[in-house]
Amino acid sequence: MEYQAKELFAKHGVATTLGVVVETPEAAKAAAEEIGGVTVVKAQVKAGGRGKAGGVKLAKTADEAFEYASNILGMEIKGLTVNRVLVTPATPPQEEYYFSFLLDRANRQYLCIASVEGGVEIEEVAKTNPDAVKQIAVDPGTGVDEAKARAIATEAKFPEPVFEQAVAMIQSLYKVFVEEDATLVEVNPLARLEGDKLEALDGKVSLDENASEVRHPHHEEFEIREEADPLEAKAKDKGLNYVKLDGEVGIIGNGAGLVMSTLDVVAYAGEKHGGVKPANFLDIGGGANAQVMADGLDVILNDPQVKSVFVNVFGGITACDEVANGIKGALEILGDAATKPLVVRLDGNNVDKGRAILAELDHPLVTTVDTMDGAADKAAELANA
Ligand SMILES: Nc1ncnc2c1ncn2[C@@H]1O[C@H](COP(=O)(O)OP(=O)(O)O)[C@@H](O)[C@H]1O
Ligand SMILES: [Mg+2]
Repeated sequence: MEYQAKELFAKHGVATTLGVVVETPEAAKAAAEEIGGVTVVKAQVKAGGRGKAGGVKLAKTADEAFEYASNILGMEIKGLTVNRVLVTPATPPQEEYYFSFLLDRANRQYLCIASVEGGVEIEEVAKTNPDAVKQIAVDPGTGVDEAKARAIATEAKFPEPVFEQAVAMIQSLYKVFVEEDATLVEVNPLARLEGDKLEALDGKVSLDENASEVRHPHHEEFEIREEADPLEAKAKDKGLNYVKLDGEVGIIGNGAGLVMSTLDVVAYAGEKHGGVKPANFLDIGGGANAQVMADGLDVILNDPQVKSVFVNVFGGITACDEVANGIKGALEILGDAATKPLVVRLDGNNVDKGRAILAELDHPLVTTVDTMDGAADKAAELANA
């Protein structure tokens, strides 16, 4: 969220104003009184376009801050409920710029995107005037030193009065990006304030969870439990690698690569079956015992959008008979909670034993299909039935 991004900005020397985060109109009023003068009340949700959605309001008095906070708290922005607002001094931007660092996976390097043409409307600028949005490759090996920051600021055409501040800020933002193991650091708007002061008025940071546990234990503090998707939170508690998607076919597979291709074949098969789509990513990894399978099924079956489940396992280190026993055990553990049809495709290590176990089980909810495409088609058909 913006206020958390700003904390990271401040930590690494990026010019920004922290403000006060509150959860009630009363606290917003108190914060506005303490800050004094004109303040801005800003919805804190993990979505952009809050301004356009009415989630950013200028409050001339503390009473107005109270009023705006009452309106904004509880409001929905892009499907997310606003539970807290940031109250911060109003510092009207004279000009708004856009700046970000992100991963450029295709080119195996980092990418800097910068534009001095309007911050908020950056997507629009990218469409109508793409030359104004500069994309500058950053070699992770050499990173961003002062010379590189200067080159970026020059290419982006930061105006002379704020040029040196931009050079400094670019280096600080790069520090946030690298030292926090971020996959995205975005400032929009990067504002030129009165007196030619450059400041990050908004911020968005995506942190790489793979780096959190060991390298950045403090990143856990940024996680707000009640803001997380309930299914994702449940999966996380059970140590499952789960991402909720918008679709009807629940997916369980072993190995991230297999699961990714399973999403593709299900999306493809869905085109023939009423446009159904995969409902989630779930990689149960190796050693899929009954408990892991039961936990995975439990999460997926609790997704009200799910109409069918596709279990796609290629036995490598994990043998198919273990997985089949896992499915059998999971259905026993879940009992009446298992309510949706399961399509199972097993292949690889001990496939015959695995298929024999499922054949013997002869469970009314379970259909076995031997090929991945065939199973995807069946799962999509059942989801659409
Ligand atoms: N502290 C502030 N003082 C004055 N105006 C602000 C302030 N913060 C944001 N704004 C204005 O509100 C707009 C939207 O706010 P922003 O934080 O970028 O939210 P979002 O990107 O979600 O719409 C900004 O482009 C800026 O013009
Ligand atoms: Mg913004």
